[in-house]
Amino acid sequence: MSLAEFISSLEALLVAAETSLGDVADVASLEEIRVLYTGAKNGQLKSIQKGMGVLASDERPAAGKKFNEIRDAVQAAIDSAAVRLGSSAGSISAAKKLGPQVDPTLPGLRPRLGRLHPITQTIEDLKEIMGRLGFSAIEGPEIEDTWHNFVALNIPEDHPARDPLDNFYLATAGKQVSDPNALDAKLLRSQTSTVQIRAMETQKPPLRIISLGRVYRPDEADMTHFPMFHQMEGLWIDTSVTMAQLKSVLRMFATSYLGGDVTIRFRPSFFPFTEPSVEVDYFWNEQWVEFGGAGMVDPNVLKAVGYDPEEVCGFAFGLGVERLCMRRYGIKDIRDLFRSDIRFLRQF
Ligand code: FA5
Repeated sequence: MSLAEFISSLEALLVAAETSLGDVADVASLEEIRVLYTGAKNGQLKSIQKGMGVLASDERPAAGKKFNEIRDAVQAAIDSAAVRLGSSAGSISAAKKLGPQVDPTLPGLRPRLGRLHPITQTIEDLKEIMGRLGFSAIEGPEIEDTWHNFVALNIPEDHPARDPLDNFYLATAGKQVSDPNALDAKLLRSQTSTVQIRAMETQKPPLRIISLGRVYRPDEADMTHFPMFHQMEGLWIDTSVTMAQLKSVLRMFATSYLGGDVTIRFRPSFFPFTEPSVEVDYFWNEQWVEFGGAGMVDPNVLKAVGYDPEEVCGFAFGLGVERLCMRRYGIKDIRDLFRSDIRFLRQF
Protein backbone atom coordinates (compact mmCIF):
# COMPACT_ATOMS: atom_id res chain seq x y z
CA MET A 1 0.00 0.00 0.00
CA SER A 2 1.23 3.51 -0.85
CA LEU A 3 0.85 6.59 1.33
CA ALA A 4 -1.72 8.01 -1.13
CA GLU A 5 -3.81 4.81 -0.85
CA PHE A 6 -3.55 4.90 2.96
CA ILE A 7 -4.77 8.49 3.06
CA SER A 8 -7.62 7.94 0.65
CA SER A 9 -8.86 4.90 2.59
CA LEU A 10 -8.91 7.05 5.73
CA GLU A 11 -10.81 9.82 3.96
CA ALA A 12 -13.31 7.36 2.55
CA LEU A 13 -13.84 6.00 6.07
CA LEU A 14 -14.54 9.48 7.41
CA VAL A 15 -17.09 10.21 4.67
CA ALA A 16 -18.84 6.88 5.29
CA ALA A 17 -18.82 7.39 9.07
CA GLU A 18 -20.18 10.93 8.81
CA THR A 19 -22.92 9.83 6.47
CA SER A 20 -24.15 7.02 8.69
CA LEU A 21 -23.85 9.18 11.82
CA GLY A 22 -25.85 11.93 10.13
CA ASP A 23 -28.72 9.48 9.57
CA VAL A 24 -28.57 7.65 12.86
CA ALA A 25 -31.89 7.82 14.70
CA ASP A 26 -31.47 5.86 17.90
CA VAL A 27 -28.95 5.13 20.56
CA ALA A 28 -28.58 1.42 19.77
CA SER A 29 -27.64 2.16 16.14
CA LEU A 30 -25.23 4.83 17.29
CA GLU A 31 -23.50 2.27 19.45
CA GLU A 32 -23.26 -0.15 16.51
CA ILE A 33 -21.69 2.57 14.35
CA ARG A 34 -19.27 3.47 17.10
CA VAL A 35 -18.12 -0.12 17.41
CA LEU A 36 -17.89 -0.50 13.61
CA TYR A 37 -15.52 2.45 13.24
CA THR A 38 -13.72 2.90 16.52
CA GLY A 39 -14.01 -0.55 18.17
CA ALA A 40 -10.73 -1.33 19.89
CA LYS A 41 -10.43 -4.84 18.45
CA ASN A 42 -12.10 -5.01 15.04
CA GLY A 43 -12.99 -1.39 14.31
CA GLN A 44 -12.26 -0.13 10.78
CA LEU A 45 -9.88 2.53 12.06
CA LYS A 46 -7.93 -0.18 13.81
CA SER A 47 -7.57 -2.27 10.64
CA ILE A 48 -6.43 0.73 8.58
CA GLN A 49 -3.94 1.59 11.29
CA LYS A 50 -2.48 -1.92 11.02
CA GLY A 51 -1.77 -1.18 7.30
CA MET A 52 0.60 1.57 8.36
CA GLY A 53 3.21 -1.09 9.06
CA VAL A 54 3.80 -1.72 5.31
CA LEU A 55 4.52 1.93 4.52
CA ALA A 56 8.07 3.14 3.97
CA SER A 57 9.54 4.49 7.17
CA ASP A 58 9.84 8.08 5.82
CA GLU A 59 6.10 8.02 5.02
CA ARG A 60 4.98 6.98 8.45
CA PRO A 61 5.05 10.38 10.22
CA ALA A 62 2.68 11.88 7.64
CA ALA A 63 0.51 8.76 7.76
CA GLY A 64 0.34 8.90 11.56
CA LYS A 65 -0.63 12.57 11.51
CA LYS A 66 -3.43 11.94 9.02
CA PHE A 67 -4.61 8.90 10.99
CA ASN A 68 -4.92 10.98 14.18
CA GLU A 69 -6.85 13.71 12.37
CA ILE A 70 -9.34 11.26 10.93
CA ARG A 71 -9.72 9.36 14.21
CA ASP A 72 -10.49 12.65 16.04
CA ALA A 73 -12.94 13.70 13.36
CA VAL A 74 -14.79 10.35 13.59
CA GLN A 75 -14.93 10.67 17.39
CA ALA A 76 -16.25 14.25 17.11
CA ALA A 77 -18.98 13.05 14.73
CA ILE A 78 -19.94 10.29 17.20
CA ASP A 79 -20.03 12.82 20.04
CA SER A 80 -22.27 15.24 18.20
CA ALA A 81 -24.62 12.42 17.16
CA ALA A 82 -24.77 11.38 20.84
CA VAL A 83 -25.59 14.94 21.85
CA ARG A 84 -28.27 15.16 19.19
CA LEU A 85 -29.84 11.91 20.46
CA GLY A 86 -29.59 13.14 24.04
CA SER A 87 -27.47 10.16 24.90
CA SER A 88 -24.05 9.56 26.26
CA ALA A 89 -23.93 6.19 24.51
CA GLY A 90 -20.59 5.19 23.18
CA SER A 91 -18.86 8.37 24.14
CA ILE A 92 -17.37 9.33 27.43
CA SER A 93 -16.56 12.80 26.18
CA ALA A 94 -20.16 13.27 25.02
CA ALA A 95 -21.30 12.21 28.49
CA LYS A 96 -19.08 14.87 29.96
CA LYS A 97 -20.52 17.50 27.68
CA LEU A 98 -24.06 16.45 28.50
CA GLY A 99 -23.55 16.31 32.25
CA PRO A 100 -25.63 14.09 34.53
CA GLN A 101 -29.25 13.64 33.64
CA VAL A 102 -31.13 15.47 36.39
CA ASP A 103 -34.79 15.09 37.18
CA PRO A 104 -35.55 18.41 38.87
CA THR A 105 -38.92 17.13 40.09
CA LEU A 106 -37.39 14.58 42.46
CA PRO A 107 -36.97 15.56 46.14
CA GLY A 108 -33.35 16.44 46.98
CA LEU A 109 -30.94 14.21 48.87
CA ARG A 110 -30.22 15.91 52.18
CA PRO A 111 -26.46 15.78 52.84
CA ARG A 112 -25.71 14.24 56.21
CA LEU A 113 -23.75 16.78 58.22
CA GLY A 114 -21.25 15.77 60.86
CA ARG A 115 -21.50 17.33 64.29
CA LEU A 116 -19.37 17.84 67.36
CA HIS A 117 -19.11 15.00 69.89
CA PRO A 118 -21.30 15.73 72.95
CA ILE A 119 -18.19 16.01 75.13
CA THR A 120 -16.68 18.58 72.76
CA GLN A 121 -19.98 20.49 72.81
CA THR A 122 -19.99 20.33 76.61
CA ILE A 123 -16.42 21.66 76.78
CA GLU A 124 -17.38 24.59 74.54
CA ASP A 125 -20.45 25.32 76.70
CA LEU A 126 -18.44 25.18 79.93
CA LYS A 127 -15.77 27.52 78.56
CA GLU A 128 -18.47 29.95 77.51
CA ILE A 129 -20.23 29.96 80.90
CA MET A 130 -17.00 30.23 82.89
CA GLY A 131 -15.80 32.93 80.50
CA ARG A 132 -18.82 35.00 81.51
CA LEU A 133 -17.76 34.57 85.14
CA GLY A 134 -14.34 35.96 84.28
CA PHE A 135 -12.34 32.70 84.00
CA SER A 136 -10.05 32.32 80.98
CA ALA A 137 -9.30 28.87 79.58
CA ILE A 138 -5.76 27.52 79.42
CA GLU A 139 -4.34 24.12 78.50
CA GLY A 140 -1.80 21.77 80.01
CA PRO A 141 -0.06 18.60 78.83
CA GLU A 142 -1.65 15.16 79.19
CA ILE A 143 1.75 13.56 79.83
CA GLU A 144 2.83 14.93 83.16
CA ASP A 145 5.63 14.52 85.69
CA THR A 146 5.40 13.54 89.34
CA TRP A 147 6.14 17.11 90.39
CA HIS A 148 3.05 18.60 88.73
CA ASN A 149 0.72 15.64 89.24
CA PHE A 150 1.56 15.04 92.91
CA VAL A 151 4.45 16.75 94.70
CA ALA A 152 3.56 20.39 94.07
CA LEU A 153 -0.05 19.47 94.89
CA ASN A 154 1.04 18.46 98.38
CA ILE A 155 0.41 14.75 97.75
CA PRO A 156 3.06 12.89 99.79
CA GLU A 157 5.00 9.84 98.61
CA ASP A 158 2.96 7.38 100.66
CA HIS A 159 -0.41 8.73 99.51
CA PRO A 160 -2.55 6.02 97.85
CA ALA A 161 -3.21 8.33 94.86
CA ARG A 162 0.46 7.84 93.87
CA ASP A 163 0.23 4.04 93.81
CA PRO A 164 1.58 2.76 90.48
CA LEU A 165 -1.51 0.54 90.25
CA ASP A 166 -3.75 3.62 90.32
CA ASN A 167 -1.86 5.51 87.61
CA PHE A 168 -0.55 5.09 84.10
CA TYR A 169 3.19 5.60 84.59
CA LEU A 170 5.13 5.65 81.34
CA ALA A 171 8.35 4.05 80.19
CA THR A 172 10.44 6.88 78.72
CA ALA A 173 13.38 7.01 76.32
CA GLY A 174 14.59 3.45 76.67
CA LYS A 175 13.91 3.30 80.41
CA GLN A 176 11.50 0.82 81.88
CA VAL A 177 8.64 2.45 83.78
CA SER A 178 10.57 5.03 85.74
CA ASP A 179 10.81 5.25 89.52
CA PRO A 180 7.37 6.68 90.32
CA ASN A 181 8.85 8.84 93.05
CA ALA A 182 11.42 10.58 90.85
CA LEU A 183 10.25 14.16 90.28
CA ASP A 184 10.57 13.77 86.53
CA ALA A 185 8.84 10.35 86.34
CA LYS A 186 6.30 10.55 83.55
CA LEU A 187 2.65 9.53 83.75
CA LEU A 188 -0.66 10.26 82.04
CA ARG A 189 -2.12 12.96 84.25
CA SER A 190 -4.73 11.63 86.65
CA GLN A 191 -6.34 15.03 87.27
CA THR A 192 -6.37 18.48 85.72
CA SER A 193 -5.15 20.00 89.00
CA THR A 194 -1.70 19.78 87.36
CA VAL A 195 -2.67 22.83 85.31
CA GLN A 196 -3.20 24.90 88.48
CA ILE A 197 0.47 24.37 89.24
CA ARG A 198 1.58 25.17 85.71
CA ALA A 199 -0.51 28.35 85.69
CA MET A 200 0.84 29.57 89.05
CA GLU A 201 4.42 28.67 88.09
CA THR A 202 4.26 30.91 85.06
CA GLN A 203 1.90 33.75 86.07
CA LYS A 204 1.77 36.20 88.91
CA PRO A 205 -1.43 36.57 90.98
CA PRO A 206 -4.25 37.51 90.60
CA LEU A 207 -5.31 34.51 88.54
CA ARG A 208 -8.70 33.32 87.37
CA ILE A 209 -8.40 30.33 85.07
CA ILE A 210 -10.10 27.13 84.00
CA SER A 211 -8.58 24.18 82.20
CA LEU A 212 -10.51 21.45 80.42
CA GLY A 213 -8.98 18.24 79.20
CA ARG A 214 -8.51 14.51 79.37
CA VAL A 215 -7.31 12.62 82.42
CA TYR A 216 -6.52 8.95 82.83
CA ARG A 217 -7.01 6.46 85.66
CA PRO A 218 -7.00 2.66 85.61
CA ASP A 219 -10.63 2.64 86.80
CA GLU A 220 -12.95 -0.21 85.86
CA ALA A 221 -15.49 1.07 83.31
CA ASP A 222 -19.07 1.11 84.60
CA MET A 223 -22.14 3.36 84.26
CA THR A 224 -20.37 6.38 85.79
CA HIS A 225 -16.64 5.60 85.43
CA PHE A 226 -14.31 5.33 82.45
CA PRO A 227 -10.49 4.98 82.40
CA MET A 228 -10.21 8.13 80.25
CA PHE A 229 -12.47 11.04 81.10
CA HIS A 230 -12.43 14.84 81.15
CA GLN A 231 -12.25 17.31 83.98
CA MET A 232 -12.74 21.03 84.27
CA GLU A 233 -10.30 22.57 86.70
CA GLY A 234 -10.93 26.03 88.09
CA LEU A 235 -8.59 28.26 90.06
CA TRP A 236 -9.09 31.75 91.48
CA ILE A 237 -6.19 33.33 93.35
CA ASP A 238 -6.30 36.86 94.74
CA THR A 239 -5.79 38.67 98.03
CA SER A 240 -9.16 37.87 99.60
CA VAL A 241 -10.97 35.02 97.87
CA THR A 242 -13.45 33.18 100.10
CA MET A 243 -15.23 29.85 100.38
CA ALA A 244 -18.52 31.75 99.94
CA GLN A 245 -17.29 32.92 96.52
CA LEU A 246 -16.41 29.31 95.67
CA LYS A 247 -19.95 28.23 96.43
CA SER A 248 -21.45 31.14 94.50
CA VAL A 249 -19.33 30.45 91.44
CA LEU A 250 -20.19 26.74 91.46
CA ARG A 251 -23.88 27.43 92.00
CA MET A 252 -24.00 30.04 89.24
CA PHE A 253 -22.15 27.64 86.99
CA ALA A 254 -24.50 24.71 87.77
CA THR A 255 -27.58 26.88 87.25
CA SER A 256 -26.28 28.14 83.91
CA TYR A 257 -25.29 24.74 82.62
CA LEU A 258 -27.84 22.41 84.17
CA GLY A 259 -30.81 24.74 84.66
CA GLY A 260 -32.50 26.50 87.54
CA ASP A 261 -33.95 23.33 89.03
CA VAL A 262 -30.55 21.98 90.13
CA THR A 263 -29.78 21.84 93.81
CA ILE A 264 -26.10 21.58 94.67
CA ARG A 265 -24.53 20.80 98.02
CA PHE A 266 -21.06 20.84 99.59
CA ARG A 267 -20.01 17.80 101.62
CA PRO A 268 -16.89 17.91 103.83
CA SER A 269 -14.05 15.96 102.26
CA PHE A 270 -10.29 15.78 101.95
CA PHE A 271 -7.87 16.65 99.14
CA PRO A 272 -4.17 17.15 99.95
CA PHE A 273 -4.08 20.35 97.87
CA THR A 274 -7.09 22.12 99.45
CA GLU A 275 -7.96 22.98 103.05
CA PRO A 276 -10.82 22.90 103.80
CA SER A 277 -12.00 20.52 101.07
CA VAL A 278 -15.47 19.59 99.87
CA GLU A 279 -17.17 17.22 97.47
CA VAL A 280 -19.66 18.97 95.22
CA ASP A 281 -22.91 17.03 94.63
CA TYR A 282 -26.08 17.74 92.71
CA PHE A 283 -29.47 16.18 93.09
CA TRP A 284 -30.41 13.98 90.16
CA ASN A 285 -32.81 11.07 89.73
CA GLU A 286 -33.89 11.23 93.37
CA GLN A 287 -30.32 10.98 94.65
CA TRP A 288 -27.17 13.00 95.23
CA VAL A 289 -24.51 12.54 92.53
CA GLU A 290 -20.92 13.69 93.02
CA PHE A 291 -19.64 15.80 90.17
CA GLY A 292 -16.46 17.21 91.58
CA GLY A 293 -14.15 18.24 94.36
CA ALA A 294 -13.21 21.72 95.54
CA GLY A 295 -11.70 23.73 98.37
CA MET A 296 -9.44 26.56 99.43
CA VAL A 297 -5.92 26.15 97.99
CA ASP A 298 -3.61 24.69 100.63
CA PRO A 299 -0.80 27.10 101.71
CA ASN A 300 1.74 24.35 100.90
CA VAL A 301 0.65 24.46 97.26
CA LEU A 302 1.01 28.24 97.17
CA LYS A 303 4.51 27.90 98.65
CA ALA A 304 5.47 25.16 96.13
CA VAL A 305 4.87 27.56 93.23
CA GLY A 306 6.60 30.50 94.93
CA TYR A 307 3.48 32.42 96.05
CA ASP A 308 3.34 33.89 99.54
CA PRO A 309 0.38 32.37 101.48
CA GLU A 310 0.40 35.43 103.74
CA GLU A 311 -0.37 37.63 100.75
CA VAL A 312 -2.63 35.58 98.49
CA CYS A 313 -5.25 32.88 98.84
CA GLY A 314 -7.79 31.25 96.58
CA PHE A 315 -10.05 28.39 95.72
CA ALA A 316 -9.80 25.51 93.28
CA PHE A 317 -12.30 23.00 91.95
CA GLY A 318 -12.25 20.00 89.62
CA LEU A 319 -15.46 18.75 88.01
CA GLY A 320 -16.13 15.64 85.91
CA VAL A 321 -17.12 16.81 82.42
CA GLU A 322 -18.81 13.52 81.45
CA ARG A 323 -21.03 13.62 84.52
CA LEU A 324 -22.11 17.18 83.69
CA CYS A 325 -22.82 16.22 80.10
CA MET A 326 -24.73 13.09 81.22
CA ARG A 327 -26.83 15.08 83.64
CA ARG A 328 -27.70 17.68 81.03
CA TYR A 329 -28.65 15.23 78.28
CA GLY A 330 -30.06 12.45 80.46
CA ILE A 331 -27.36 9.95 79.41
CA LYS A 332 -27.46 6.97 81.75
CA ASP A 333 -24.23 5.17 80.87
CA ILE A 334 -20.87 6.97 80.43
CA ARG A 335 -19.66 4.15 78.14
CA ASP A 336 -22.18 5.23 75.48
CA LEU A 337 -20.13 8.40 75.03
CA PHE A 338 -17.08 6.44 73.91
CA ARG A 339 -18.53 3.55 71.90
CA SER A 340 -18.39 5.66 68.71
CA ASP A 341 -21.86 4.43 67.78
CA ILE A 342 -23.06 6.98 65.29
CA ARG A 343 -26.73 6.17 66.01
CA PHE A 344 -26.19 7.29 69.61
CA LEU A 345 -23.96 10.30 68.88
CA ARG A 346 -26.24 11.65 66.14
CA GLN A 347 -28.83 12.53 68.77
CA PHE A 348 -26.81 15.40 70.24
C1 FA5 B 1 -10.05 15.25 91.70
O1 FA5 B 1 -9.63 14.75 90.65
C2 FA5 B 1 -9.52 16.54 92.20
N1 FA5 B 1 -8.39 16.95 91.41
C3 FA5 B 1 -10.63 17.57 92.19
C4 FA5 B 1 -10.24 18.85 92.89
C5 FA5 B 1 -9.72 19.89 92.19
C6 FA5 B 1 -10.44 18.98 94.28
C7 FA5 B 1 -9.37 21.08 92.83
C8 FA5 B 1 -10.10 20.12 94.93
C9 FA5 B 1 -9.57 21.19 94.20
P1 FA5 B 1 -11.79 13.38 92.14
O2 FA5 B 1 -10.84 12.25 92.05
O3 FA5 B 1 -12.89 13.28 93.10
O4 FA5 B 1 -11.06 14.76 92.43
O5 FA5 B 1 -12.43 13.58 90.66
C10 FA5 B 1 -13.23 14.70 90.36
C11 FA5 B 1 -14.43 14.28 89.50
O6 FA5 B 1 -14.01 13.59 88.34
C12 FA5 B 1 -15.36 13.29 90.19
O7 FA5 B 1 -16.23 13.96 91.06
C13 FA5 B 1 -16.10 12.71 89.02
O8 FA5 B 1 -17.10 13.59 88.56
C14 FA5 B 1 -15.02 12.65 87.98
N2 FA5 B 1 -14.43 11.32 87.88
C15 FA5 B 1 -13.54 10.72 88.70
N3 FA5 B 1 -13.20 9.50 88.26
C16 FA5 B 1 -13.92 9.30 87.11
C17 FA5 B 1 -14.01 8.24 86.16
N4 FA5 B 1 -13.27 7.15 86.25
N5 FA5 B 1 -14.84 8.39 85.11
C18 FA5 B 1 -15.57 9.52 84.96
N6 FA5 B 1 -15.52 10.58 85.81
C19 FA5 B 1 -14.71 10.47 86.87
